[in-house]
Amino acid sequence: MLDKIKKYQEEIAQFSATEISEVENFRIQFTGSKGIIKSLFKDFKEVPNQEKKAVGQALNVLKNAATDKVKTLIEALETSVAEKGIYGDLTRPQAPIEIGSRHPISIVKNRIVDIFSRIGFTVSEGPEIEDDWHNFSALNLPEHHPARDMQDTFFIEKNPDLLLRTHTSSVQVRYMDDHEPPIRTISPGRVFRNEDISARSHCIFHQVEGLYIDTDVSFADLKQTLLYFTKELFGKSKIRLRPSFFPFTEPSAEVDIYWGLETETDYRITKGTGWLEIMGCGMVDPNVLKNAGIDSEKYTGFAFGMGIERIAMLLYQIPDIRMFYENDVKFLEQFKAVT
Ligand code: PHE
Repeated sequence: MLDKIKKYQEEIAQFSATEISEVENFRIQFTGSKGIIKSLFKDFKEVPNQEKKAVGQALNVLKNAATDKVKTLIEALETSVAEKGIYGDLTRPQAPIEIGSRHPISIVKNRIVDIFSRIGFTVSEGPEIEDDWHNFSALNLPEHHPARDMQDTFFIEKNPDLLLRTHTSSVQVRYMDDHEPPIRTISPGRVFRNEDISARSHCIFHQVEGLYIDTDVSFADLKQTLLYFTKELFGKSKIRLRPSFFPFTEPSAEVDIYWGLETETDYRITKGTGWLEIMGCGMVDPNVLKNAGIDSEKYTGFAFGMGIERIAMLLYQIPDIRMFYENDVKFLEQFKAVT
C-alpha cells in the first residue's frame, strides 16, 4: 500500500497543466467522490493494525498534496488568463459571425418610402383589422356594391363589421379624418385577400398606397409624380396610363412602364409587348373627400397603389411569390449585399 501511495505521490508532484479543464480532470481523478484517494481510504480498512499509523499518515500527505496541487495550478492559470487582459488573445482568429440580411419586401418598401419622402410624402400606418367603413364604405364602396367582389375579403366571424383590410387605402381614410389638406402621405402595409395561393398571387401581401390632396391638383401632377417614381425605382422613363376603374377614384388608370424588349426575359415577362403593369391610380373621387370631411369644391387629389411583392419580383427577377414567405435561408441570403 505504501508503494502505491508513493507512486501516486510522484504522479501528483509531476503533474502540470496548461488548461483549466486538465486541472479539473486531475481533480476528479484524485480527489473526486469516486477518485483514487477515496478508494485508497476504503482499502485503508484492510491494512493490518501495526501498519495503520504509517499508512494513515502517508494517505493524509497524499490527500493534501493533491488538493494543494489543484489549488496552485488553478491560481496560476487564472492569473495567466487575467494577464492576457479581459479580451484574451486579440491575435486569435475570430470565429466567423453570420451577418443577416433584410427581407426583400423590406428592402423594396424602404426604397419606395425613400423615393416618395424625397418629394415631401410622409409615412402613415393603420390597423390590419379594419372596420367596413374605412376599408369599403368611406371609399365609395357601399354595402352590396358589386365592386366589393373585386377584393375577396376575409371577414371576422364574430363581428361582420370587422375584416382584414384588403388594401391600405383604409389608412388613407383614417389619415384624411385626422389631417387637413395639404396632404401628402404614403401608406405601406400588409393586406389580406381570400385568393388561391399560386406563383403569382397570395392571400397575404404588401402594398404601398399614396395620397396627395391640395388645391389645384391635376391629373398631370399624378402622371409627373409617377414618372419621377418609376425613373427612380426602375431607371425607366417611359410610362403609360390606361383607363381603368376603381370606386374611389375618377378618372382611374392602370400604370404601365415600358420595360423594353432587349432580352428573352423581357419578352417573357412582358408577354412580348415590352409593357408591364405596375399599379393602379386615379383622381380621388369627390365622394371620398366628402366622406372624410374634406371640402371637395376647394380641394382635389390623386391616389395610387401598388403591390410590393410584384415590384420586388420585377426588380430581382423572382419567379414565384411564395418564395417571399417560405423564409428559405438560401433565398434570403442572396439579399445580403442589398440594404
Ligand atoms: N386600392 C387599390 C387596390 O388595392 C389600388 C389603388 C389605390 C388604385 C389608389 C387607385 C388608387 O387595388
